[in-house]
Order: sequence, then C-alpha cells, then structure tokens
Amino acid sequence: MAASWPTSMRPILTVTVNPALDVSTSIDEVTNDQKLRCGPTRLDPGGGGVNVARVVQRLGGQALAVYAVGGPTGEAYRQLIEAERVPAVAVPIAGSTRESFTVDESSTDKQYRFVLQGPELSEAEWRACLAAVEEAIPAAGYVVASGSLPPGVPHDFYARVASLARARDARCLVDASGPALAEALAEGVFLVKPSRRELAEHMGAPLDSEQSQVEAASALVAQGSAEFVALSLGAAGAVLASSTGILRLPVPRVRVRSTVGAGDSFVGAFVLRMAQGHEPDSAFRSAVAAGTATTMTPGTELCHRDDVERLEAELAALADRTAQSV
Ligand SMILES: Nc1ncnc2c1ncn2[C@@H]1O[C@H](COP(=O)(O)OP(=O)(O)OP(=O)(O)O)[C@@H](O)[C@H]1O
Ligand SMILES: [Mg+2]
Repeated sequence: MAASWPTSMRPILTVTVNPALDVSTSIDEVTNDQKLRCGPTRLDPGGGGVNVARVVQRLGGQALAVYAVGGPTGEAYRQLIEAERVPAVAVPIAGSTRESFTVDESSTDKQYRFVLQGPELSEAEWRACLAAVEEAIPAAGYVVASGSLPPGVPHDFYARVASLARARDARCLVDASGPALAEALAEGVFLVKPSRRELAEHMGAPLDSEQSQVEAASALVAQGSAEFVALSLGAAGAVLASSTGILRLPVPRVRVRSTVGAGDSFVGAFVLRMAQGHEPDSAFRSAVAAGTATTMTPGTELCHRDDVERLEAELAALADRTAQSV
C-alpha cells in the first residue's frame, strides 16, 4: 500500500441489508393496559451502513450507501434518504423494510427501544445486494458493512463483501455481531468495531477487566483477523488495538440524552478521517468524539458537526497533556 496519501478524500461505500425506518417519540410515563399518548413523532432512515453514510455527510464528507429496500415503509425510507441527499443505490426487495420504535420516557430519562427483525430476503435479493456492492466498490477506497443481517441472508455476507473489497484493494470495516462478525473475522478485514458484549460473545469470555479486553482485541490483530480492532465501551470510552499497540480513550464529559446511533457515529467518523488521510490515532479520537456527540442528541438523532469538532479538540488536548506527562 502507498505510504503517502493524496490530499483528496478516498471514496467510501456503505452496505445495509437490513435498514430500519426509525420512528421515535417521547412520553411522560410508559405504563401498561392504557393508551399511551405520545409526543411528536420523528422519522429517520436508520440502520448501520446508512447511518454511517449520514454521519460521514454531517461531518462534511460523502459516502455512497447501498441498501435493500421494499414495501410502503421502504418508500418512506427512500424519500427520507433523498431528502437528506445521501448518495445511494437502493436495491429493491419484495418484503417491507422494517420499522424500529424508540420511546424516551421523560419522567425517568429511560429509553425503550423496540427493534424489529426485518423482512426475509430471497437468495436472488441478497445476491443483487452483493452485485450492487461489487459494482460500486471504490478501488483503494473504504467499504463499511454494518448492522444486522435479516432472515435469509447467509452469515458470510459480510465476509463476501470483505472479499470483494480486497479484490479492489479497498479497506473493509465491519460492525456486526455473532456469526456475521465471526465469518468476517475469518475472512480478514481492515477494522471491526465490536462493543464489549459483542466481543465477549465472540471470544466466549466475559471480558469484564480492562486487561482481558485489551488481550482479546490484540489477539484478533495478532491472528490477522483485523488490522484494527476498535472495541467500544459505551460511557467507558474505547480501546483501539493494532500492530503498533494499544490506544485507550475516555469519553469527554457531556449530558447524555440518547445513545441510539453512537456506534454508527463512531464508525462514520473513523472511516471519514481515515479516508481524509488522517492517522489512525486521530481517526480514533474523532470516532470517540462522534459517538459521544451522538449521545448528546435526543432519540434517534445523530451527532452535530460542531459538537464533534469541539469534543475532538478536547480529546486532542487530553492526548497532548498525557504525552507531556510521560
Ligand atoms: N453513555 C455514554 N456517554 C458518553 N459517550 C458514550 C456513551 N455511550 C456511548 N458513547 C460513545 O459512543 C461510542 C460507541 O458507543 P457504544 O460502545 O455504546 O457502541 P455500540 O454498543 O455499538 O452502540 P449501538 O447501540 O449504537 O450499537 C463510545 O465509544 C463512546 O464514545
Ligand atoms: Mg453497535
């Protein structure tokens, strides 16, 4: 791979086979056996890869989103994507795009998240998604495969995406869990971003100490499963393992309103900064900043660019102070 990067941005493609029309609202109190009259409704085109593309766009970049879509919810979904002017390739499917429902309970600050399974894809449909990805993969660019796989899609779908990316010398980032994550790791990817729970499930160990977390992430790098393992730890920040060692970051102090989309924002900022030619440590700070900035917004709303830039600067100042004190 070339040692120096061009000044222009490398292209980014994101893949979403199970997008969700995110419906979010708020209510004073959630109770059973009576009508719950909710506040205003917000609709967002959600789902891993599409959210990543939206975050890239919010931060001033651009990513092409390939996504499967169908039915009346799919039509609404498509319109929302168009309204946000996210460049996209919609692959039609017979089933209806799922909805996800998030309710913020204002009296307690609790959040209820109902995530539906999604429509079943036929073999012809998931192969059409893969063909759309193959056609659009940017040579020497970045490919982000993110989110759950709906029924009908084989567990090795992201591994297949990773293999197509490799054939074009593109770097593949995968945010998945369970068998989809395992298959992608077996194929070998540029980066995976498991949460603690996802990595613990994969390793078959609780990973409840910092040492065990670092060891697990480093083991995947040592095995050649991923060049980078970004282990995100919610309010405890994140760990980045690579062949050059381990980086750890705490989260900046903010008022947390909703963590929906934090993981996607993390991946979106990381891939954008890498595509812009930043070093991995700088991309990692942006990722933590964007994840945390997304927690400052209510419901399914993603991060705001000014919050991300302020938190990036805070984390960079922290890194400078730490460097001076050692
Ligand atoms: N409670 C929090 N306070 C501050 N920052 C947070 C919090 N939760 C998440 N973040 C930020 O977002 C990043 C990703 O969050 P997290 O580890 O929860 O990802 P995830 O489990 O993949 O989330 P998702 O539910 O979106 O899949 C964290 O590394 C951190 O920067
Ligand atoms: Mg996640």
